[in-house]
Amino acid sequence: MKNEQTQIPTIDSLGEWKRTDNCGTLRQHHVDRDVILMGWVNRRRDLGNLIFIDLRDREGITQVVFDPQVNAATHEKAHVLRNEWVLAVKGTVVPRLEGRENRDLPTGEIEIKVEEVKILNLTETPPFQVDGAVDASESLRLKYRYLELRRPQIFENFRKRHAIASFIRAYLDERGFMEVETPILTKSTPEGARDYLVPSRINRGMFYALPQSPQLFKQLLMVAGFDRYYQVVRCFRDEDLRADRQPEFTQVDLEMAFVDEKAVMDIFEGMMGALFTRIMDTKIESPIPHLTYQDAMNRFGTDRPDLRFAMELVNITDIADQSDFKVFKGVVATGGMVKAICVKNAAANYSRKMLDEISLVATANGAKGLAWIKIAADKWQSPVAKFFNDETKLALNGRLDAVPGDLILMVADQPAIANAALSALRLEMAQREELIKEGEHAFVWVTDFPLLEYDDAAGRFVAVHHPFTAPVEEDLELLLEHPGKVRARAYDLVLNGSEIGGGSIRIHNASIQETVFEALGISPEEARSKFGFLIDALKHGAPPHGGMALGFDRLVAIMAGVNSIREIIAFPKTTSGTCPLTVAPSPVDPKQLKELGLSINL
Ligand code: AMO
Ligand code: AMP
Repeated sequence: MKNEQTQIPTIDSLGEWKRTDNCGTLRQHHVDRDVILMGWVNRRRDLGNLIFIDLRDREGITQVVFDPQVNAATHEKAHVLRNEWVLAVKGTVVPRLEGRENRDLPTGEIEIKVEEVKILNLTETPPFQVDGAVDASESLRLKYRYLELRRPQIFENFRKRHAIASFIRAYLDERGFMEVETPILTKSTPEGARDYLVPSRINRGMFYALPQSPQLFKQLLMVAGFDRYYQVVRCFRDEDLRADRQPEFTQVDLEMAFVDEKAVMDIFEGMMGALFTRIMDTKIESPIPHLTYQDAMNRFGTDRPDLRFAMELVNITDIADQSDFKVFKGVVATGGMVKAICVKNAAANYSRKMLDEISLVATANGAKGLAWIKIAADKWQSPVAKFFNDETKLALNGRLDAVPGDLILMVADQPAIANAALSALRLEMAQREELIKEGEHAFVWVTDFPLLEYDDAAGRFVAVHHPFTAPVEEDLELLLEHPGKVRARAYDLVLNGSEIGGGSIRIHNASIQETVFEALGISPEEARSKFGFLIDALKHGAPPHGGMALGFDRLVAIMAGVNSIREIIAFPKTTSGTCPLTVAPSPVDPKQLKELGLSINL
């Protein structure tokens, strides 16, 4: 046996070789064709006499065979090949031997009888196997992201992302929307997150902000008469990261002049219907159902309800108040509420220990506890059964449509917490009970949001959507007296419990915009310095206008069936906002700081 390890092969140049086919297309009817394939060694099997390589490129895998009978020198060369080396092979398509076909591989009926091979590049020992079952840590996979992206199932997500983007662009092009680029180096546009700042060298001590969205520019384009704008655009938000949040992400951003809510929603509704038909081969529910913000909160405890299953929240405050349970009565007395969900036919599935585990979901969302009832034929099995008499038990069973075998979960608290805890429990129980069918897609429009909400931490009202959203006309007079009661002309698009888009009709009247700034506690001076350009533009013939932005990454993640948007972003950041591949963020040269007039003060 030769010592294969010590033999360092020479790297061949591509020379005149031209790729004739890719590794995914050759079939039985290509037999006898002379081909040149190029790609990576996915796997090598050395049977001594015959050497088999699975050659991989983005289109697939083709088996190539080195046979000493065909070319002894080539066969000799094949001895040293290793996984992930880059090769070019010249040979002929031949049928596989009877019984050796691979039904799992589209190219499994044929193989390539190799006459010549070129080694185009070698590789260091990969930190993890590209086609391996064993997986590496996320930081290692991100450090070598280009290797992870070689994985066919991951690559397919990017093919899908591209197909979705192309489809959306064509859809909007056909409807008269023009793609216009807006600045990345700009001034802060509030969308509820912190800005990323970029120091200016020429104007020392001054900063640009990266856009949280192109909101104000797209409104200016409407003032300019562009009429229908869209952009597939990167947005930047410095906020705490989660599975569905990245510091930079992509929106399909759109704006239309001379329209009402329905016109904007119709565009997206039509786009989603056509997109799901084309890419997923499924029909979505049409028309997409609507829920008011209030109904969504009442029935699901959240403004982004997952409608793939029912298990709605039920208000049982009045019945709970009839019980002798001090916790419930105390919460009701202080203006709180008691809400419940009924998990059908689940009582027998949960031990006390499991219910303790489930109650952690409630407490993690701020609740002080979780009360449960297992409904049996003739009684309640529950730590709180003793506090309810027969009448209140019947009333509660009736309100929740509970029948023997069902499990009831109840939370008593202030409305925000009761809703948050129960909406989390609703999702938890749906998962445990496997109520969500694979491949189902439930869209819903959420409308009638409040314009403003009181932010305890900030001690003032803040915009629920953004400060440029128009109030419902008949609520205008409430703006300064009862800001919390004003409804917004805003709408969110929710898919499977994820907010995949949001938009609104905008304020196109400068004085209303100024009143909204006032309601937000922004002084006229601050409004002028931050948004003077917008007020000026509104005074120069701004048409009525509105729009919306789709969270493109979230949409693609759902369509690709992955849990995190990191999987469908080519080079994502970790949850701590770092890029292990390039090692960003990183310190900069003191000279650069000096040029910018900055010093680090940690
Ligand atoms: P909004 O702030 O709702 O609206 O953003 C629109 C959509 O963008 C997605 N999104 C995100 N996706 C990934 N990572 C993030 N950090 C992130 N933040 C938001 C969500 C969201 O629904 N200018 C308005 C739109 C308009 O009014 O036209 C805006 O940006 O899916
Ligand atoms: P206690 O009598 O305080 O031990 O509570 C009895 C049951 O009620 C326990 O299962 C608690 O988890 C539950 N519980 C306590 N506080 C609340 C609450 N605010 N809402 C719902 N259940 C609660």
